[in-house]
Amino acid sequence: MTVHVLIPAAGSGRRMGTDINKQYLFLGDRPVLAHTLSLFEKHPAIDKITLIVPLQELDFCREEVVERYRFSKVQAVIAGGKERQDSVRNGLQACGADADDVVLIHDGARPLLPPDVVDEAIAAVQRCGAALVAVPAKDTVKEVEDGMVVKTPDRSRLWLAQTPQAFRYQLIASAHEKAYKEAYQATDDAQLVEWLGKPVAIVSGSYCNLKITTPEDLLLAESFLRQVDEEE
Ligand code: CTP
Ligand code: MG
Repeated sequence: MTVHVLIPAAGSGRRMGTDINKQYLFLGDRPVLAHTLSLFEKHPAIDKITLIVPLQELDFCREEVVERYRFSKVQAVIAGGKERQDSVRNGLQACGADADDVVLIHDGARPLLPPDVVDEAIAAVQRCGAALVAVPAKDTVKEVEDGMVVKTPDRSRLWLAQTPQAFRYQLIASAHEKAYKEAYQATDDAQLVEWLGKPVAIVSGSYCNLKITTPEDLLLAESFLRQVDEEE
């Protein structure tokens, strides 16, 4: 069995509001995306990485990230699509996985994933076929319509989805193909498997595994990173 990682990194980072794509902003000594790739490059359970970037950034990313930091597990750098779901689908088609291989899908914009969560996600796929890394909601969540609260879901049942999300290749590839044919849009990959009526196991993530989205996330990430460096 081969363990593949797909890294969707083909967004434009609009909410960060910087001229360069947020994934090339430096966090400590390296770009955000290089931290994300390092994590899997160093992880013994990971065999192959497929990186998905905007079409116009293919050369830049190959030269300034993959070659510069010598990521030897990156077997392909390919172009993404309009939505994240399109980018992941391109990655699934390009990665060359066999039906029973495990595929982890992890946002390029999440550079602080603890390595043990990767092992737990792989183990959960072996038990259940699909696994989602998530953390319990800390804040109370309100459902709102026209500026008015309509519902307060029971917080003890709410978890916030992160990545990696991990699957048997056959399961996630068929979910994506069906969604494409039927024009079904989900906000994460696990939702496509739920839509097929198949079980998805929860793996406890970390509050440090934040997605770099807006400028304050970079400040938080800098301080988490300093803490990790001190512990090492
Ligand atoms: N992503 C992708 N293809 C897209 C859109 C997003 O591969 N068409 C990737 C992003 O590069 C990112 C991850 O999916 O690593 C999560 O998306 P998000 O945090 O929303 O990043 P962006 O879409 O780049 O940011 P924004 O929504 O602020 O423009
Ligand atoms: Mg986006």
